[in-house]
Amino acid sequence: MPDDIEEMLKTMSEDDHTSVGKMAFLKASVEACRRGVPRCHLVSYLDDGALLQELFSREGIGTQIVTQSAERLRRATIGDIGGILNLIRPLEEQGILVRRSREQLEMEIEQFMLVERDNLVIGCAALYPFEEDNAGEFACLVVHPDYRDADRGSILLNNIIGQARVRGYSRLFALTTRSIHWFLEHGFNIVDVEELPNKKKQLYNYQRRSKILALDL
Ligand SMILES: CC(C)(COP(=O)(O)OP(=O)(O)OC[C@H]1O[C@@H](n2cnc3c(N)ncnc32)[C@H](O)[C@@H]1OP(=O)(O)O)[C@@H](O)C(=O)NCCC(=O)NCCS
Repeated sequence: MPDDIEEMLKTMSEDDHTSVGKMAFLKASVEACRRGVPRCHLVSYLDDGALLQELFSREGIGTQIVTQSAERLRRATIGDIGGILNLIRPLEEQGILVRRSREQLEMEIEQFMLVERDNLVIGCAALYPFEEDNAGEFACLVVHPDYRDADRGSILLNNIIGQARVRGYSRLFALTTRSIHWFLEHGFNIVDVEELPNKKKQLYNYQRRSKILALDL
């Protein structure tokens, strides 16, 4: 962000000849951002193939100066279906997630929240309502493997907890075969199938043997 760069510039000295070039580029980037350029990329001429890596890798190789954080949490819209499918298909193929058709996703899209970074969907989660039981299902939680362990899963959960509370739900539950410990560490408890909302109980797949986790709100 431009403010962070300005702080950094204060610690750099024009007397140090290795910093002079960097400082000029950083100052120019700050000015460009302040005049409305959304993002500036500084790419070193010292790295062979740097431009290609900046353009074609997810993380890029250079330094990016942005007017706004490049990452945000937002509600999904119909235009995000492709991005969500790209994120969840590999996990469906590994059997970690239950397969969802494009049509199903289209119907449920408003229940999805996503983490977007540089126009890519890198995380998602859904809140399915079970109004009769005053409960919600925290479903389809995925963070892209390149972006795990940086609290994005927790951020999605906290947002869904907030939405569930606003709706007055007393319980949030989740089904998982692989990430049981993640849920336990986030305050969920393992419960019996009998505790699922009625509608969900009828759909419960005994062969899949998912663990049922519940969080009282
Ligand atoms: C579960 C998942 C969403 C977590 O995303 P994340 O952004 O890495 O989550 P956070 O950064 O908030 O939490 C990371 C912490 O949880 C731990 N963790 C991540 N996945 C875990 C798992 N499957 N089991 C146990 N712990 C796990 C990490 O080691 C890390 O611990 P630390 O903070 O002590 O280092 C991600 O691992 C994922 O997409 N998994 C595949 C899909 C899945 O299983 N979804 C749940 C079923 S619907």
